[in-house]
Amino acid sequence: MNERAVLPTSTRGVALTRYPEGELQESDFAVREFDLPEVTQGSILVQNEWFSLDPSSRIRMTAGESTYFTPFALDEVLDGWAVGRVLDSAHDDFAVGDYVHHFGGWREYAVVAVPDKDWYSPRRVEVGGGIDSRHHLGVLGPSGLTAWAGLFRVGRLKPGETVFVSAAAGAVGTLVVQMAKLMGATVVASAGTDEKVRHLVDDLGADVAFNYRVAPVLDSLQAAAPGGIDVYFDGVGGDHLDAALLQLRAGGRVALCGQIAGYNLKGDDRPGIKNLFSAIEKGLTLQGFLARMYFDEFDEFYREVAEWLARDQLIFDETIIEGIDASPAGFIGMLHGTNIGKSLVRVTPRTS
Ligand SMILES: NC(=O)c1ccc[n+]([C@@H]2O[C@H](COP(=O)([O-])OP(=O)(O)OC[C@H]3O[C@@H](n4cnc5c(N)ncnc54)[C@H](OP(=O)(O)O)[C@@H]3O)[C@@H](O)[C@H]2O)c1
Repeated sequence: MNERAVLPTSTRGVALTRYPEGELQESDFAVREFDLPEVTQGSILVQNEWFSLDPSSRIRMTAGESTYFTPFALDEVLDGWAVGRVLDSAHDDFAVGDYVHHFGGWREYAVVAVPDKDWYSPRRVEVGGGIDSRHHLGVLGPSGLTAWAGLFRVGRLKPGETVFVSAAAGAVGTLVVQMAKLMGATVVASAGTDEKVRHLVDDLGADVAFNYRVAPVLDSLQAAAPGGIDVYFDGVGGDHLDAALLQLRAGGRVALCGQIAGYNLKGDDRPGIKNLFSAIEKGLTLQGFLARMYFDEFDEFYREVAEWLARDQLIFDETIIEGIDASPAGFIGMLHGTNIGKSLVRVTPRTS
C-alpha cells in the first residue's frame, strides 16, 4: 500500500437530500465533501476521470419502490458507473496506475471493495490505441452491452428484418441503431428533436426516423414502417410500446429495456399499456432484461464491438458535462433529452 499521508482522505461527491415528488429538481441534490474510508485489505482507491449519468438512477431516487436497484439513501454519496485510475491498492489484481471501471461514481475519489467477480465488481480496462477510458462507460461498457444483448439475444434480430428503436439518439439507442444496420436490418428510429432525427438518418444510418413530439407515435410509426416491424427495442414504454404492439408482425419480438416515459412520474401517473391483446393475437414475445443478466457474455460482446470500433464502423456519441457541480443539472437534462449519446461527467482533478 502507498503512504496514506499523500493520498486523499475526503472527496467531493453528490448526494440526494430528499426523495422528489414527481419531477426531479436540482435542489433535491447537494454537492459536498465526504470522508473517504481507509483502503483495507481487498479494496482499492480510485481517482475518477469520468462518471456516467444513467436513467436507472432516477428509479433509485424514489423511496422504497424499486426492485431494479435499492433506493439511494438520503445525504449519502450516490453510486453509479465510473472509470478512473488506481491511486492505492490493497488487492493483488490491481496496481497503482491501472485504469478501472467500477461502481463508485458521482464523486472524485472512491474506495471500492473488490468482491467476487460480478457485474458490479471493479474491472481493469485497457486504454490507448484509440480507446479512451470513457469508452468503457459507453460503447465498450454497460450501454454497449445493453444494446448488443437487447438486440441480438433478447430481440433475436435477423438480417433483413425491420427493427423500431425508441430513445434512439441516446446512449443505448445510438448503439442499437448502428448495430442493427451492421447486422443488415432496416431501422426505424424515434427521438425528441428534429436535430436528433437528422443525426440518426444522416450520421448513424437509420433508414427512417421521426420526432415523436410532433405527431402521435402510432401515426408516425405506421408512416415509417407501413409493412410492419419485426422487433421493437423499447427504452420508453407508454405510447411507444403501445404503438409498437399494433405495428409488430406475427411472431414479432419486443426487447423491454427501459420505460423512461414513466421515471419522473408518480406510480398512478405513469402511462399504462392498452394494446397488450396484440401480443396474444400475433404470438408476440415480450421479454424484459437487464444488461447484467448477460454478464457471462461480456467477453464475446467486447470482442465484437471493439472490432467494429477499430474499423470505424461505430460512432460513439457522447454529451460531456464538465465537473461534478454540473452533474445534477446534467442528469435532469438527460432525463428531458438534452443529450445526444452517452451522458458523461468529466471529473476535473483538484489543483491543491
Ligand atoms: N435494461 C437495462 O439493463 C438498461 C441499461 C441501460 C439503459 N436502460 C434503459 O434504456 C433507456 C435509455 O437509457 P440510456 O442510458 O440510453 O439513456 P439516454 O437514451 O441517453 O437518455 C434518455 C433519453 O430518453 C429520452 N426520453 C426522455 N423522456 C422520454 C419520453 N417521455 N418519451 C420518449 N423519450 C424520452 C430523451 O431523449 P428524447 O430527446 O429523444 O426525448 C433522453 O435523451 C432508459 O429507459 C434506461 O432506463 C436499460
